[in-house]
Amino acid sequence: MRPDLRKRMIFGRHDITRDAPISRLHLLVCRNTLMYFNVEAQSQIIDRFHFALRDDGFLFLGKAEMLLTAGDRFDTYSIRQRVFRRRHADVASPRSITPARLDVYRSPEPREMSRRRHLRDLVLDTAPNATIVLGSDGTVALINGQARTQFGLTSHDLGRPFSDLEVSYRPVELRSLIDQAQAERRVLRATTVERRIAGDEAQYFDVVIQPLAGQDGSVDGVAVNFTDTTMATRLQQEVKQVRVDLETAYEELQSTNEELETTNEELQSTNEELETTNEELQSGNEELETINEELRMRTGELNEARTFLEGVMSSVAAAVVVLDTGLKVRTWNSGAEDIWGLRASEVIGQPFFSLDFGLPTHLIRDAVTKCMSSAGQLQDAQVNALNRRGRAITCTISCSPLNEARNGVVLLMEEQPAAAGEQPATREPA
Ligand SMILES: C[S@@+](CC[C@H](N)C(=O)[O-])C[C@H]1O[C@@H](n2cnc3c(N)ncnc32)[C@H](O)[C@@H]1O
Repeated sequence: MRPDLRKRMIFGRHDITRDAPISRLHLLVCRNTLMYFNVEAQSQIIDRFHFALRDDGFLFLGKAEMLLTAGDRFDTYSIRQRVFRRRHADVASPRSITPARLDVYRSPEPREMSRRRHLRDLVLDTAPNATIVLGSDGTVALINGQARTQFGLTSHDLGRPFSDLEVSYRPVELRSLIDQAQAERRVLRATTVERRIAGDEAQYFDVVIQPLAGQDGSVDGVAVNFTDTTMATRLQQEVKQVRVDLETAYEELQSTNEELETTNEELQSTNEELETTNEELQSGNEELETINEELRMRTGELNEARTFLEGVMSSVAAAVVVLDTGLKVRTWNSGAEDIWGLRASEVIGQPFFSLDFGLPTHLIRDAVTKCMSSAGQLQDAQVNALNRRGRAITCTISCSPLNEARNGVVLLMEEQPAAAGEQPATREPA
C-alpha cells in the first residue's frame, strides 16, 4: 500500500452475518463470499449491506454472485462486473434495515448458523443429482457440482439467462416447463428424458422442475433437478428385451414341444408296428426253424439214400447207366467206368448219344427210344463193342424204364464171356 493511502486505512475484523454494519459507505466490496451462504442468510447480509451503504453507494460482488431478490433496494450498475448501486432511501422498500432489525444481527448464534449454512451449501454442491437454480428473472442463480460436470457449465454461466444455455432446450425443452411450473406454482416432471452423448451412447434423466416460494409467497425462482436414471433405464430396457426374448423362446419351446409330442406319437405307432413285425418275424423264424429241422432230417435221409444207392451201384459188377428223359447221363457207375474207360465226372450231364466211347450207341438208340415210349417194357440188345482196352467185346444191353419212363431209362450193360479161339474185334463194330 502506498504509505499516504495506508495511513487512511483501518483494518478490522468483521463478521458480515453478526457484526453491526459500518454505515454511510460509498463502496462496499465483498467478493466470492455471499455464495457460501444460503438464500435466507444472503438476504439478511444484503439487508446489512443495504443498511451500510449511503444512497447511490456501490456494492461490488464476485463474478459468480448475483443480487437475485434485492431488485427493490439495488439497481444493477454493471451486470458484467457485478456492480450494484443502492437505491435512494425514498424509493427503498419497507424491507430496508430498521434499528429494530439490527437486534437480530447481534444474536449470539450467527457462527453456528454460518457453519450450518456452509454445510447445507456443501451438501447441495456435492449432491449426486445435478441441480440448477434460476432466479425469478430467469437468470442462472446456482449451479451445483454435478450440474457443472454433467452439462459442462462453469461459474461464468451464473447470472446468464437460462434460455441462453443449451441445457434449457436439450435434452428436453425446459423453458416452457419452467414457465408452466412458475405459472401454476406446482412441481412438474419429465421422466426418462434421453440425452445422446458420444457415439450411440445415451443417458437418461428424470427432470423435476420445482418452483421456489419466496418469503411473501411469490415465486422467487425455480430449481431444476436432474436425476440420472441411465442405469435403471438400461436395466429396464434389458429386462424388457429379455422378457420379449423369453416369450419368443417360450413360444419356440411350445412349438418344439408340440413337434416332439407328434414325433413321439409317430414313434409309438412305429414301435407298435415294429413289435407286431417282430412277433410275426419270431413266428416266421420258428416256422423256418421247424422247416430247417425237417430239411436237415430230409437231407440226412437223402444222403443216406444216396450213399446206399452209390454203394449199390458200385457193388454191381455190370455197367449201369441211367439216362434222364432228355437222354442225358444221370448215373455212370464204376462198372461203366471199368468197361468204357470214361469217368463219371466226364459224362454226367452229357447227351448220351453224343458220347464217343467203345459202344456204338446209335445201335441201341431204337431200343432206348422204344423203352422210353413203351413206358415199362424192357428192351434188350446185343451189340459188338470195344472196351476201354480196345478189346472187342459183345455187350448185352438191357434198357428198362425208370418209374415207367417218367424219370428216364436204366441201361444195364454186361460183357458176354468170349468164346474159345475168338479173335478180338476191330474198333469199328459191325
Ligand atoms: C472465497 S474467499 C474470497 C476472498 C476474496 N474476497 C476474493 O475474492 O478472493 C471467501 C472469504 O470470505 C470470508 N468469510 C467467510 N465467512 C465470513 C463472514 N461471516 N464474515 C466475513 N467474512 C467471511 C472468508 O474468510 C474468506 O476470506
